[in-house]
Amino acid sequence: MTQHQVLEYDVVVIGAGGAGLRAAIEAAAKGASVGLICKSLLGKAHTVMAEGGVAAALANVDDRDSWKVHFADTMRGGHYLNAWRMAELHAQEAPERVRELEGWGAIMDRTPDGLINQRNFGGHAYPRLAHVGDRTGLEMIRTLQDHGIHEGIDVHMEVTVSKLLMDGGRCAGALAYDRERGRFKAFKAKAVVMATGGIGRAFLVTSNSWEYTGDGHALAYHVGAELVDMEFVQFHPTGMVWPPSVRGILVTEGVRGEGGILKNSEGRRFMFEDIPPLYKESTADTPEEGWRYVVGDREARRPPELLTRDHVARKIVKEVQEGRGSPHGGAFLDIAWIKEHIKDSEDHIKKKLPSMYHQFKELAGIDITKEPMEVGPTTHYAMGGIRVDPDSQMSTTVPGLFAAGECAAGLHGANRLGGNSLSDLLVFGKRAGEYAAEFAAGNTPVHLQDEQIDLAVQEALSPLERDPGADVGPYRLQYELQHLMQDKAGIAREEGGLTEALNELQELKTRAQAMGAGGSREYNPGWHTTLDLQSLLTVAEAVVMASQARKESRGAHSRLDYLDKDPEWGTVNLVLKKGHDGEMELRREVIPEIPEELQKIIEEQG
Ligand code: FUM
Repeated sequence: MTQHQVLEYDVVVIGAGGAGLRAAIEAAAKGASVGLICKSLLGKAHTVMAEGGVAAALANVDDRDSWKVHFADTMRGGHYLNAWRMAELHAQEAPERVRELEGWGAIMDRTPDGLINQRNFGGHAYPRLAHVGDRTGLEMIRTLQDHGIHEGIDVHMEVTVSKLLMDGGRCAGALAYDRERGRFKAFKAKAVVMATGGIGRAFLVTSNSWEYTGDGHALAYHVGAELVDMEFVQFHPTGMVWPPSVRGILVTEGVRGEGGILKNSEGRRFMFEDIPPLYKESTADTPEEGWRYVVGDREARRPPELLTRDHVARKIVKEVQEGRGSPHGGAFLDIAWIKEHIKDSEDHIKKKLPSMYHQFKELAGIDITKEPMEVGPTTHYAMGGIRVDPDSQMSTTVPGLFAAGECAAGLHGANRLGGNSLSDLLVFGKRAGEYAAEFAAGNTPVHLQDEQIDLAVQEALSPLERDPGADVGPYRLQYELQHLMQDKAGIAREEGGLTEALNELQELKTRAQAMGAGGSREYNPGWHTTLDLQSLLTVAEAVVMASQARKESRGAHSRLDYLDKDPEWGTVNLVLKKGHDGEMELRREVIPEIPEELQKIIEEQG
């Protein structure tokens, strides 16, 4: 019998970024007792890396916008692999969620008329991103935190979940340890909401910080949840490339939304080449005005830098590969050029992009009001994740387990539009919290067997009992994994590399399972890394398997050996599940037919 503390709640939320906080607030508002677990400190979440804005068809800047246009843009951006019901709910509910946030104290930038201001972003037909300079995610987290605190939520900081606990086939809680002292806590809950964010740390260059090791994806998968769309990993086109210590840190799309342009080493604005036919109807008079896009009966002026992220990222890689990159292997992003058009451009840039100004000044010694930035793709977001019911967000296969935000899949299909992550987490965080509370109220209490907890504790402690001298150590192994994923399952993939990656992952798995952490449970990040590795290896395998199976290029999934979209794959999701033998199994599933009225909206919007 191991020593552990037992904590009991109606609803336990794992992850305290935007989705987790929003779910916790809703569950508490519905009368549930709520425990909120964060791997690091409250407020430190990848949500803050959605800097440029939250997408919602408020129609404050362009009154032609509506939920229908937002829905159609999201589906087009996702190459129609999206769970259409989620895309519908998201577009319909996002405006209300943003206004609600404002009511809770979020301070948004305003239009001259005093309305919430909205800016252009890639793939959105109209200026749609409500924002707070380039700190939108931060303001959202601050607001949700402040609001959540008053809902009576218990917050457990610096606590990591190592296993989900089950009562028969129902999710019944989680085993976790506090990172400081390594003491175990068994959370007993009638419903669990997973909101752990993404998997960026499986790659070498990423905007994600150390927490994002795919924990939620892996924990859910190991108790029988299905993962879907795992081949779709978003490489944001603009991360910092220099100096090496900050490589991957996000440079918000808001820079391009405010007029930033991309140039190669020859000074050419290369985004004017290879414009996808879907977006191009005719050209504007001057490049600075951008292309004139005519989609259906709508017209919008947006520069080619604001095409979807998958396209822009690949274009930058092409320039680098063909020898026209910037000195440190990226492209130049220039916002300073707006001085030709805007009076007091320096003040304007500092006002609109204050974080970017400080980030480059302090980390790279660059004054973005005067010089261009060097940028290149960075692993930013997983479109794939836990498969959920679109309305309730409950896992399709594990009752009592809900998921919201980045670790849940469906809304974004093959590629997410910028700003749709923040609206996603508000809309579906709320829904997950609401339905989890309802599930908790409508179902019997759960029972946790001591043997199950003991076994989970032993598993978590096992790296401390193994010989640490036998291999290179957990950090080095994580580095090897990141290298492997970056090189063989990154922005451009092909069969040979993916086969090698699968084989090498098996080797890494064997080594990780035999790896010793050294030291004791207390203040031992090496031990934490051996546990993170289990999650990283699970999600890495899922990404590689799905990438190998999808023999086409679509959205964020780019195959050098299948360069085009294949209509046969245009209606298919790839679903991964743990088989009875413990091996990962993959199946193709045809997406349910879209209802006529939604299809009509897509056709009308072009
Ligand atoms: O570029 C950005 O500000 C990121 C936004 C997002 O990922 O939604």
